Amino acid sequence: CGITACIAERDVVDTLLDGLRNLEYRGYDSAGIATRTGTGVTVIKREGGIDELADAVDAVGPSGVAGVGHTRWSTHGAPTDANAHPHTDCGNRVAVVHNGIIENYQALKDELGADGHAFTSETDTEVVPHLVAEELAGGADPSAALRAAADRLDGSFAIAMVVRGEDAVYAVRQGSPLVVGVADGCRFLASDVPSFLEHTRDVVYLEDGDVVRATADSHEVTDREGRPVERAVESVDWQAEDAERDGFEHYMLKEIHEQPSALERAVNGRVTAEGDVHLEDFPSGSFAGVDDVQFVACGTSYHAALYARQLLAERGVPAQVFSAGEYATTPAPVDENTLVVAVTQSGETADTLASVRQADAAGARTLAVTNVVGSTAARECDDALFIRAGPEIGVAATKTFSSQVAVLSLLVERLTEDITGSPGEDRAGLLRALDRLPGDVQQVIDQSGPAGLADRFRDREGHFFIGRGVGFPVALEGALKFKEITYEHAEGFAAGELKHGPLALVTPDTPVFAVFTGRHDEKTLHNVEEVQSRGATVVGVGSEATPEVAATVDDFLPIPDTHPAAAGVLANVQLQLVSYHVADLLGRSIDKPRNLAKSVTVE
Ligand code: G6P
Repeated sequence: CGITACIAERDVVDTLLDGLRNLEYRGYDSAGIATRTGTGVTVIKREGGIDELADAVDAVGPSGVAGVGHTRWSTHGAPTDANAHPHTDCGNRVAVVHNGIIENYQALKDELGADGHAFTSETDTEVVPHLVAEELAGGADPSAALRAAADRLDGSFAIAMVVRGEDAVYAVRQGSPLVVGVADGCRFLASDVPSFLEHTRDVVYLEDGDVVRATADSHEVTDREGRPVERAVESVDWQAEDAERDGFEHYMLKEIHEQPSALERAVNGRVTAEGDVHLEDFPSGSFAGVDDVQFVACGTSYHAALYARQLLAERGVPAQVFSAGEYATTPAPVDENTLVVAVTQSGETADTLASVRQADAAGARTLAVTNVVGSTAARECDDALFIRAGPEIGVAATKTFSSQVAVLSLLVERLTEDITGSPGEDRAGLLRALDRLPGDVQQVIDQSGPAGLADRFRDREGHFFIGRGVGFPVALEGALKFKEITYEHAEGFAAGELKHGPLALVTPDTPVFAVFTGRHDEKTLHNVEEVQSRGATVVGVGSEATPEVAATVDDFLPIPDTHPAAAGVLANVQLQLVSYHVADLLGRSIDKPRNLAKSVTVE
């Protein structure tokens, strides 16, 4: 879910709607705003996206100098008007928006209900304004009331609030992201910086336990005991234009096209003239003493982690990759020589954070590989390595996958040297390939091969993606992207695994996408023949340097000839474009696919 809030010397309704539009990638099944007035709080909320909300806002015409807004990704209760945020107390004195989960809400609801509080939604959030109202009625000021309410909540939350008659917005953070934006005569609160990036790049990252009271020209941060705490104002280097669509039909297409520049930034300054890998983001720089590497990640980031594990395995360094949702409940054994790497674009995925917290508590060293400076993962892990992809708005990750793989490739080289005592055998080759990767990706984008093929891949029974080595995570990622944005059935497999079950599903109506990286292509070609003999059409993605591939497959999407470790990134760009064009033909909601959210901050 996305939270936004604003207090200014002028009306903030339009600013709230803009702030929500900028956060729609965090959830988009319902949305709402509340402003405080002299006599109460005005709440407008609707099932649907921000456009539906904006129509309702136009009809009502609310105003106010202080307000909160929310765009929801449902966890408790269906996406209805009633369940949309903000939520209020019975007396309409307090309006609250919330991101996260309140685990003990049922017990609180029962208790408040017994005291005469009536509830109008099925959400866990609604207990909060009632708890705050009780405290206000008891004479507490709004900050103290919010603090006292937060003390009663179990779970993770970021909460923003307006209160009748108060020229201020209030917020508390416990386990869910929340930042303050500082501008002249205006303060913002939001789950994520892009919410207010067109107004200011000066931000305050809040810590767990922080409570904020912001007015138009000040913000005070206190801890859960009410003691003032200092939080520095930092400047972010993202530009407002980075988060705009820039003439592209979809953010996803724009972000696919941004990959060459993102990849350049990812590698820039991290390879010395002598060909050493220098990861400047964290001071220790070395992994001497590490004898166990564990990656934890979700979704696309999980696939990037699998890619890194494959590169490490090829260099003789064992590593494990865990789905963070599993690791969070069943962590692997660690000690002080274990490096746990959280791969997370947003730096806020709850399962990934829970995993690194477990590992940290058990004594492991932790490293965040993330796109977001100031994110929870970046701040909580011992070290952080930034992928520098710039803001990614499309829910389906594209440029962040490529940038993760590039940065993880550098990390792999560093780890190989620090763990085995000598650089990877083919370091120079890999670094050369990374250096030319931006140009190679540009070449793939310029060919626009998949646009012409897309028509053939709609309304089919299923779509299979196969690969081996780094081609395996690319096959998984290709299938994930396809299902996320086309809503058609797609699965990825290790090419060799196909005959151990999935082959039963292969028919003339199930196209197979086969990834070739230049390593063990002959084996993957056998798998291609297996599916072709069952009537399936095969689209091969690979280099023309292996002519057998183009000669065997039914359709061929070429990538420039490069090091196998980088070929996977190029093949993935082709597959991103396949998914994009099929989804576009099918008229899908490409940037905001149904049921999904970009940043999942609940476990
Ligand atoms: C969500 C998104 C995915 C993303 C995953 C992990 O499920 O829809 O696109 O890969 O979260 O996100 P992270 O920010 O941790 O990389």
